[in-house]
Amino acid sequence: MTTPQPTDAQAPPPYYERHIFFCLNERKNGEDSCVPRGAQAGFDRCKARVKAAGLAGPGRVRVNKAGCLDRCAGGPVAVVYPEAVWYTFVDDSDIDEIVESHLKNGQVVERLVLPPDVGR
Ligand code: FES
Repeated sequence: MTTPQPTDAQAPPPYYERHIFFCLNERKNGEDSCVPRGAQAGFDRCKARVKAAGLAGPGRVRVNKAGCLDRCAGGPVAVVYPEAVWYTFVDDSDIDEIVESHLKNGQVVERLVLPPDVGR
């Protein structure tokens, strides 16, 4: 016997429209990690821009810290759900584009998408 699964029509609306997680892991042994490559600055910038744009809050956008997401070789990395789009970024303008294009308008920033074969 199988348990009935809710259909999309029965699923409650998502608590957040979009959720972005930034890896803020740092390794001190010389292995790849995101904090030495600017992850904290990217997180701080994203948080500030989402708030300033009035996008933060239930039904809208949430910016969260995460531990290692196991894609360290491409760091710094962040992932946006529900689309499950992985990004890497270099500077404030990259973060601003992710906020404006993807988090606000749902358009993926193709130039910043992490290649699919990048792992740890
Ligand atoms: S240290 Fe950032 S993904 Fe692993």
